[in-house]
Amino acid sequence: MKIKKTVDELDPYVPGRSIYEITSEYNLKPEEIIKLSSNENPIGPSPQAVKAVENSIKDMNRYPESDLSDLIQELAVYSNVKSEQVLVGGDGADEILDVLGKTFIEPGDEFIVHLPTYMYYEFTLRIYGAIPVFARWDIENNQLDVDSVLAAISPRTRLIFLCTPNNPTGGLITKEDIQRVLESTEAVVVVDEAYFEFSGTDNVDLLKDYENLLILRTFSKVMGLAGMRIGYALANEDIIQYMYRVKPVFSLTKLSYVAALATLKDHEYLERSRAASVESREHLYQGLKEFPMLKVFRSYANYILVDVRETGMNSAQLTEELMKMGVIVRNCSSFRGLDDYWIRVSVGTIKEDDLFLKILKDILE
Ligand SMILES: Cc1ncc(COP(=O)(O)O)c(C=O)c1O
Repeated sequence: MKIKKTVDELDPYVPGRSIYEITSEYNLKPEEIIKLSSNENPIGPSPQAVKAVENSIKDMNRYPESDLSDLIQELAVYSNVKSEQVLVGGDGADEILDVLGKTFIEPGDEFIVHLPTYMYYEFTLRIYGAIPVFARWDIENNQLDVDSVLAAISPRTRLIFLCTPNNPTGGLITKEDIQRVLESTEAVVVVDEAYFEFSGTDNVDLLKDYENLLILRTFSKVMGLAGMRIGYALANEDIIQYMYRVKPVFSLTKLSYVAALATLKDHEYLERSRAASVESREHLYQGLKEFPMLKVFRSYANYILVDVRETGMNSAQLTEELMKMGVIVRNCSSFRGLDDYWIRVSVGTIKEDDLFLKILKDILE
């Protein structure tokens, strides 16, 4: 058996720990666990989405729709673009990353990522034989070092990833910096807006001026559908058409499709979800700032990055202590560009934040 070289050499992706793993490892009940590790939506899905899924369950013997035009139309309105500029993916935004690899990468091509950022870009594109070229996120000031991105561009660059708000640091990239990158290359610049709803900003207006811009988004965060695996891309029509050629036809399941459509129409839920998260983020930020031994970063997303080196513990030790008490946060040591002293805490409900802060206090004092 001969395994593809890129797969043989691949470092496995490390996701956040699941509730199931923790219950069995620490002998806890699922209801005792507070999961603040994967930037999910703590208030649950839209009740309309639940209803729509319940109504469709009986049709699961049928293949999904291949014509997603009503969902695409709804997304176009939500995003303020034309329907032809929308591509929907069925394994979340992660599937769109895979489709980007299929559409744009020949072995030996380069892509640029700033460090630290979401690790799945690198994980996915390496499989296609693409070579990562690393640029820098200035952690101290929580902003992109845009010059490091411009310096990394070469004739072999095919994709450039700019994550705003950046996972895991929570900082934003300015529109001016995004424009500088767009104007310096013919490569596709992927602006990952997975968390844009929490930030009050977006970059859709740039689509009309830049043919090489693709905006990546997801239903997993403010829309509360992480388990349904729905992502989408916004770009010029040519890019979208090429990507549709290679995207798996039925990857969006019937149930995901109806859940997505119902959520987009549930404006009350979307506003409640966004507002609750922003309020809770401020609450969590203020609570974390009370600990003199923690360095806490301002975030425009639904998580907060914390430097824990002054606690006398590294991130593995601290996350372990928290897990024993039923709290799961993200140990960031698997993020390239971060050392062993960073955790990322997802924003929970205010009640969950308070429980976490109390448990953290018990551990640190
Ligand atoms: C920055 C960023 N982009 C994309 C994704 C992928 O989201 P999805 O659940 O839609 O695959 C995530 C998931 O956490 C993320 O943090």
